[in-house]
Amino acid sequence: MPNAPFSRRRFVSGISAAVAAVPYCISGTTSLLSMLSGCSPSPEESSLKEIAHRHGFVYGAAATKTHLSSDPGFAASLTSQSGILVPEVELKWDTLRPTPESFNFQPVDWLHNFADQNHMKFRGHPLVWYQSLPKWFDSHVTHQNAKEFMINHISTVCGRYSGKMHSWDVVNEALDPNENRPYGLRSKPWVNLVGPDYIDDAFRAAAEADPNAMLVWNENHLETREDWAQAKRERMIENLKLRLGRGVSIHAVGLQSHLPGTSPTFNNPEFVSFLQTVTDLGVKVIVSELDVIDSDLPEDIEGRDRAVANVYYDYLSVVLRSSKVPAVLTWGISDRYSWISAYKPRKDNARARPLPLDENLQPSPAWSAMARAFEESGAQ
Ligand code: G3I
Repeated sequence: MPNAPFSRRRFVSGISAAVAAVPYCISGTTSLLSMLSGCSPSPEESSLKEIAHRHGFVYGAAATKTHLSSDPGFAASLTSQSGILVPEVELKWDTLRPTPESFNFQPVDWLHNFADQNHMKFRGHPLVWYQSLPKWFDSHVTHQNAKEFMINHISTVCGRYSGKMHSWDVVNEALDPNENRPYGLRSKPWVNLVGPDYIDDAFRAAAEADPNAMLVWNENHLETREDWAQAKRERMIENLKLRLGRGVSIHAVGLQSHLPGTSPTFNNPEFVSFLQTVTDLGVKVIVSELDVIDSDLPEDIEGRDRAVANVYYDYLSVVLRSSKVPAVLTWGISDRYSWISAYKPRKDNARARPLPLDENLQPSPAWSAMARAFEESGAQ
């Protein structure tokens, strides 16, 4: 019930849980935390990248070439904390395909080189999505040529970085159970243009073009308690069983994890059994776009940070405990650059604080919550 109006009683219970949940020293930040906490790695002693690596998975973040190439402080903070990088926008069709015949790979090449030079893995997002399509798409892509267009796009993009990628989001946000279509598929544009098996075609094309990469079905709204989220989880399982049964190589499900800051615990039977069912199907789980949306939390920064930290700790503890997680990525790493500021602004216009580093690139309580959840995750 993340959309339930804010209630002080529920928030106070959240704070006490947050304090209990996030006992880490962050030198020089909220003294309450350091007073209450027993110490574990502080940001000076260890990075999220190192802690994750110690527990058998990789941590990293999304970023744009614009921000990494124009803000050296930000770039240094990202590389110090991250073992993997994903382009936030540069692999999307509207940026990558200026015309039907051409590809603008320069920004992606720059990001790939940046990752390489900073010893980070690199993942691709997204090969097939219904959003961020170029202006020419509707006038050029038809029932007759859509499948060829899609497969040519995948072969060209995956072929260029073949053997150099950690993983690809082959399809993104392909489910929309509200349409009540077979298997809960979103119709526009790919089902309408290619048919319901465009997903099989996409994964087969990616597997052929980049046989060593982990191929991911990335999806949103699979984490929370609403009936529609549960319906989506059930459709995802149905699709996995159908397509794995056809020999389609779906190696992992990407949980986008854009989490409401007012979320109750994720340790609920439906979500946990979903994670276990995915694991039982031999499919891994990538936390692909994690952040905590603080738009509905009170302005008070200390309280807001603790509520955000509590959601990070609770969610990561459940997911890392219940599934095989090769990678955890946040959608951005610093509040300085977050899509949430533009897409989910606060009514009071206060800056959003959804990420592990604040706008001054300093570790926030969310950083400590992630560090603790990573430390307690055991070996993946
Ligand atoms: O680069 C152009 C710039 O030249 C132009 O002046 C400006 C004004 O129109 O737009 C800029 O492009 C924007 C781009 O972000 C770069 O900032 C696009 O309009 C804007 O739509 C795009 O938003 C991205 C959005 O996906 C759509 O692609 C967000 O940054 C990005 O965080 C968001 O990420 C998505 C994931 O891919 C999928 N899951 C949800 C997630 C958040 O919405």
